[in-house]
Amino acid sequence: MSANLSENYLYQVLLLLIVAILCWLWMRKGNKLVTASLPPGPRGLPIAGYLPFLGKNLHHQFTKLAEEYGPIYKLWLGSKLCIVVSSPSLAKQVCRDLDVVFSNRDPTIAALTLTHNAMDIAWSSSGPYWRNIRKLFVREMLSNSNIDACYHLRRQQVMKTIKHLHDNCGFPVEIGKIAFMTEFNAFISMIWGGTTSSSTFKGGDHDDDGHGAEFHVISSKFLKLLELPNISDFFPILARFDLQGVQRQANEILAELDAFLNSLIDTREKEKAKNGDGDIGKKDFLQILLDLKYCPDSDIPINKTQMKALIMDILLGGTDTSATAVEWAMAELLHNPEMMRRVQEEITQVVGDKSLVEETHLPKFRYLDAIVKETLRLHPPLPLNVPRRPSETCIVGGYSIPKDCKVFLNISAIQRDPNVWENPLEFRPERFLGGEEGSKWDYNGNNLHFFPFGSGRRVCAGIPLAEKMVSYILASLLHSFDWHLPQGGEAVDFTEEFGIVVKKSTPLLAVPMQRLSDDLANLLCMI
Ligand code: HEM
Ligand SMILES: *[C@@H]1O[C@H](CO)[C@@H](O)[C@H](O)[C@H]1NC(C)=O
Ligand SMILES: *[C@@H]1O[C@H](CO)[C@@H](O)[C@H](O)[C@H]1NC(C)=O
Ligand SMILES: *[C@@H]1O[C@H](CO)[C@@H](O)[C@H](O)[C@H]1NC(C)=O
Repeated sequence: MSANLSENYLYQVLLLLIVAILCWLWMRKGNKLVTASLPPGPRGLPIAGYLPFLGKNLHHQFTKLAEEYGPIYKLWLGSKLCIVVSSPSLAKQVCRDLDVVFSNRDPTIAALTLTHNAMDIAWSSSGPYWRNIRKLFVREMLSNSNIDACYHLRRQQVMKTIKHLHDNCGFPVEIGKIAFMTEFNAFISMIWGGTTSSSTFKGGDHDDDGHGAEFHVISSKFLKLLELPNISDFFPILARFDLQGVQRQANEILAELDAFLNSLIDTREKEKAKNGDGDIGKKDFLQILLDLKYCPDSDIPINKTQMKALIMDILLGGTDTSATAVEWAMAELLHNPEMMRRVQEEITQVVGDKSLVEETHLPKFRYLDAIVKETLRLHPPLPLNVPRRPSETCIVGGYSIPKDCKVFLNISAIQRDPNVWENPLEFRPERFLGGEEGSKWDYNGNNLHFFPFGSGRRVCAGIPLAEKMVSYILASLLHSFDWHLPQGGEAVDFTEEFGIVVKKSTPLLAVPMQRLSDDLANLLCMI
């Protein structure tokens, strides 16, 4: 009897203990939710969120919001919760302390369709797949030796541009377009121009030989689609109705592109079967990928779909961004003739006037390097970074950031922080010169006061190539020509146009004048 009683008593105590523990656990969880609220932000309409208020000029609207709500604020775009972070210390929490949590992306419908459901680097979710394909890209395709090995392909395209400009001396040209075509042709050439006939030089028509032109048409449709915000992205419930036909359009473009890339890859595979491994040492990216596919002991298997997705990443991630950087740099130099004179002097001192700029000269251009860095500080081509998506709910700056929302880092705001940069709105390359102070800045995103290529494990995968291409094109434009604004110098317009990539809203027009020696110029004419 007494044994029974004490047993009962024991049960009761145990039960109480369990209830107490559960209560404690529950309260702890509850507390967390109670203490951390969402960041501040406008309320918007209940269903549509803030979408109806974002007029055409998104940029100014955002500026107002940022001023009103401070370094972290929320915004409902439809049913999508967006968070904008714009202070270095909060950015550090996102990209450093919580890097693993924040290393997912939030691809739009167009992005998903165009990359075969995120088979690429930029849009795939973090995990083993992303890690492997990124490793393949960085180690195999963008290794120093590979970048050097395809220098001749970049050089060919830059020469072609110089010749084109030389033929147009005295007439205004659109700098952004020239830079875009050069970057674009150089990338295409590096991807598949190394061994096919499309790499043979054709003078005259700047807008390219066969493949390039065809691809350009497809991919400009493609870029437009990627840039447009679309209703289904903000109201996932509506996605299956495809109200605006985004999915359909994306599928159409993808089909065109796919047919094009398929034929390219098939041709190459046939060539390879016929000729074996000829032409070693002049590999383009496609060849590197095909070699990996057929290499029996490659630890990273790669199939055709992945190849195509990777190619898209390079073309979409690399061309517009780099070309925009070149355009902004030229705009600033045209606006600051003293800097223009100084950088041209530096380049000529290294290169002389009897030969053209080569990539091997680049490390010697210290002032040019400072100009590129200052351009990327004041005009980062991706001012809101590529949005991140937290894989779990977490706390940033004391606020709760829910799982799966869309997080923007306002790189542009952070790189203009007056506590770090003296007169932040002025273009002053000198900041990046001079001893320890200047050389502490690099592109790797380690210092969150300057990170035009992002930061953390999702940092831009193309930095070494981007750095080379921007400087090389810029140096070549500056060495071969003197530049002035049309009609003796109207002011340069610095208004920005909002998009994924922020460009000048009016394209920069400038007039090239021959600067090379006559001998060299004559040589160019003969190419
Ligand atoms: C001036 C030129 C460029 C700028 C300013 C730029 C900037 C960026 C930024 C801000 C990101 C997002 C980083 C983050 O989330 O923290 C990014 C990602 C990426 N960029 Fe670039 N980029 C440039 C050129 C290139 C080039 C030339 C390539 C390819 C050859 C490239 C390939 C990529 C890829 C693949 C990613 C996705 C990385 C990932 O999600 O793991 N970019 N870039
Ligand atoms: C980012 O910061 C810049 C400069 O302060 C501002 O003009 C822009 O509107 C901000 N963007 C967002 C989305 O808050
Ligand atoms: C995406 O949405 C915008 C604005 O709603 C619209 O103007 C545009 O046509 C849409 N894009 C496509 C490809 O349907
Ligand atoms: C290519 O590989 C990926 C990842 O391993 C896989 O998901 C995809 O289905 C493959 N595609 C084809 C066409 O084999």
